[in-house]
Amino acid sequence: MAITDELAQLREQTLARIAEADTSAALESVRVAVLGKAGTLTGYLRGMGKVAKEERAVVGKTVNEVRNVVEEALEARKKKLAAAEMEAAIDASAVDVTLPGRAQQMGTRHLINAITDEVSETFLGLGYTVVHGPEVETDYYNFEALNAPKDHPSRSMQDTFYVRDLSGEASSVRGESDVLLRTQTSGVQVHVMEDQKPPIYIIAPGKVYRRDVADPSHLPQFTQIEGLVIDKGISFGDLKGTLDYFCKQMFGPDRKTRFRAHYFPFTEPSAEADVSCGVCGGTGHLHDGERCRMCKGTGWLEILGCGMVDPNVLTMSGIDPEEYSGFAFGVGVERVACLKYNVPDLRMLLEGDMRFLRQF
Ligand code: DAH
Repeated sequence: MAITDELAQLREQTLARIAEADTSAALESVRVAVLGKAGTLTGYLRGMGKVAKEERAVVGKTVNEVRNVVEEALEARKKKLAAAEMEAAIDASAVDVTLPGRAQQMGTRHLINAITDEVSETFLGLGYTVVHGPEVETDYYNFEALNAPKDHPSRSMQDTFYVRDLSGEASSVRGESDVLLRTQTSGVQVHVMEDQKPPIYIIAPGKVYRRDVADPSHLPQFTQIEGLVIDKGISFGDLKGTLDYFCKQMFGPDRKTRFRAHYFPFTEPSAEADVSCGVCGGTGHLHDGERCRMCKGTGWLEILGCGMVDPNVLTMSGIDPEEYSGFAFGVGVERVACLKYNVPDLRMLLEGDMRFLRQF
């Protein structure tokens, strides 16, 4: 075959391979095979010296033509492939902005905190101030200054966690320690009366501790909100009006309150307040006549302790009972939460079960 025919054949083959190359890498290997150092066309260029003189001009021209055509075809194909590859890369890294976002799990306020805030807000609205007292308390503030006699049952080891100092001498023998985890927030009353002159209108929310085994109606740690009002001419009527308002705010305007005589060492007279049962509407039985289990058929739910501050307590804290009188109350937050939302077991509040907690 004449060299020019060989070159024409090489040209066609090369153009076909260029057209077939579907990646930049495949195209590059075609270029190397034809135009590289050991390439087929390069071979013809190098071999020009061996071509017969009379053919040299024609063959040289043909080789150059083929090289130009191949180079042009390579260049055009290269651009095309680069554009396609760029497009594919963009497609591959594309973000679908229409995909729905991943839902973030929102935390919720714990029911105990929510109720504490709700009670606080009710009293803030009445002009009260929120104060806090220490959880580790002395016997004086938790019992003595609250008129709890030395033999009062609430002081027994059965009820109180005593704190022992283990660092030095056994200064505190079992049950005789002066330091304890407060069993009630009532001690804050004493701190406030020592620090502030009347008029006093405060509430004091906080944790309290008792040596109880957790069961549906007891927790070894729970939350109380203490209230204290000291002013001139404060009567039991003020106490009733205030707590009735509080119950209606907390449980709804249809709920009734009643006060039953009770005993607390630091108030005289003392009472327990009940709110009418929300499950049976205060009737004690359900529509089908069945006894209401929430209030055990009584129609009432006990919600707090209260009373007129005992003159002894005022005197011990430096307030003249001839000039001032006052009332106090203590309410259990977990109990209010359970009554408000018909939760049958106090322990459910502390189990951290998200299915329960998310309901509020
Ligand atoms: N400290 C009482 C208790 O834990 C509750 C209480 C009753 C508080 C009467 C008061 C009150 O302020 O006046 O059972």
